[in-house]
Amino acid sequence: PHLNVTHYLRQHIRTVPNWPAPGVQFRDITPLLQNPKVFRVLIDAFVQRYMDPALRPDVVAGLDARGFILGSVVAYELGLGFVPIRKKGKLPFTTVEETYELEYGSATVELHADAVQPGDRVLLIDDLIATGGTMMAGKKLLEKLGASVMEGAAIVDLPELGGSARLRASGLPLFTLVDFG
Ligand code: PRP
Ligand code: ADE
Repeated sequence: PHLNVTHYLRQHIRTVPNWPAPGVQFRDITPLLQNPKVFRVLIDAFVQRYMDPALRPDVVAGLDARGFILGSVVAYELGLGFVPIRKKGKLPFTTVEETYELEYGSATVELHADAVQPGDRVLLIDDLIATGGTMMAGKKLLEKLGASVMEGAAIVDLPELGGSARLRASGLPLFTLVDFG
């Protein structure tokens, strides 16, 4: 991304110390959404990248819950469909599921079995990559259905937690806008 976009967005991310647990510096993206000018710069940074015919996905998948806010708007602007990857127990139809570890705790995510088709090239979106566990679980779910993840995208990367390096080492290209060390 253009350095100015990174700099501009960084100024609108709020850091909350010791939330939701002692020692966690929570990077709160809600101020980015609250300001209409900033929200547009944010969404356009993703849309401009994925409207390039060489990088255009077939479908956009978003990770519960903050990945829904970004992913659905990006999908809409690209003229693509959106599929939600949800925390366990929320999706009503037949699902595939995957359990993983978080920076704080563990979780299971689910995807509707008919959400993507074999061979689909999926863009997987979340707000933030910490340990990378959430995005890795999402990638595994999509792959269980025969789709491939063409790229993972997030606003924030926390590189010191090693998640983005692990995801890239697994063969997943990543696009992120702001690093917090
Ligand atoms: C946060 C964040 C990512 C994930 C990143 O979600 O929105 O989805 O953690 O962490 P990881 O890279 O270590 O997996 P959280 O589980 O807090 O849920 P929420 O979106 O419902 O708040
Ligand atoms: N998800 C996991 N770790 C996080 C952090 N430090 N800030 C915001 N969301 C997170």
